[in-house]
Amino acid sequence: MIFHYHEGMTLKQQLLFYFACRTGSCISGPVLAKTFQTPEKVIREVMSELAQDGFPFRISEQEYCFEDDDTLSEAIIRACGVSGEVPVYLFDEIDSTNLYARKLAEEKTPAGTLVIADHQNAGRGRRGHSFYSPARSGLYFSAVIYPDTDDRTLISRITPAAAVAAAEAIAEVTGIEPGIKWVNDLYLDGRKIAGILCEAVRPGAVIIGIGINCRPVPLPDEIKNIAGSLGIDTLSRSVLAGVLWEKLMRRTGDLADPALMEEYRRRSAVLGKEITFTINDRVFTGIAEAINDAGNLIVKKPDGDITILQSGEISVRFTQKI
Ligand code: BTN
Repeated sequence: MIFHYHEGMTLKQQLLFYFACRTGSCISGPVLAKTFQTPEKVIREVMSELAQDGFPFRISEQEYCFEDDDTLSEAIIRACGVSGEVPVYLFDEIDSTNLYARKLAEEKTPAGTLVIADHQNAGRGRRGHSFYSPARSGLYFSAVIYPDTDDRTLISRITPAAAVAAAEAIAEVTGIEPGIKWVNDLYLDGRKIAGILCEAVRPGAVIIGIGINCRPVPLPDEIKNIAGSLGIDTLSRSVLAGVLWEKLMRRTGDLADPALMEEYRRRSAVLGKEITFTINDRVFTGIAEAINDAGNLIVKKPDGDITILQSGEISVRFTQKI
């Protein structure tokens, strides 16, 4: 994989994300110095800082080894910034991380509580669908938030905030820029690579469930033409989870930020495209003209009529792959 450089990232972040896409690998000082156009001495200092922060780096005279075998690791998740006060629950197997997070929210678990599983045997999707969640393949992540507002417009931005956070985390860690298909699926090369299920537990308590397909794996027939993955065999799901948690808390913690919906529109894969939608069993087509600040999709039909979609499923023909 080619190294990606993001404007504004510190050298420390760049080195961490470089290794986060290369779990289990050892890279020499000279190679890192050349890749990052930085003296070896500086590389050594920064790599030592990362090890002190709790990331599992083995540092020898010759090389730097990232000892993450992609078993979910609380130490790595916390080293990415999930603080000690926030409970983190990791499971090898669970029915659904959303269901577990819901139970915790009913018991008033602290804000930000995180539940992650290597494998879900009853992963839940929107509209009663299941979400295929095989072992050692994807990130199955649920976080509990307690939004301190009852403003409906702000509450309606939780789902877009989660989609933006997921796209940002993927972009930062891997350099891959997925598009957001309204409302909250992430697409790459015309295939769905992530889904989001936000569920209210009670007024003021919401579970945000995010599933990201990381590794390419064989898919069941029902989804094999629709679903895809980030396509990285050597990705650290723990680093991705830690970065995602931080982005999610930031985006959902400031739902009034005008930059949130700007970023949602910027990352949209549907704006300007022809879409198909269904109302009361009738199928319509139109052009996705705009997304307003409440996250509604404004569609212009061929006769010039405008329809405002608040929720529901749309289809887009991705002639131009996203
Ligand atoms: C969808 O695409 O319909 C939404 C999929 C949401 C999947 C995630 S995986 C983590 C969390 N736990 C679940 O059971 N579902 C969500």
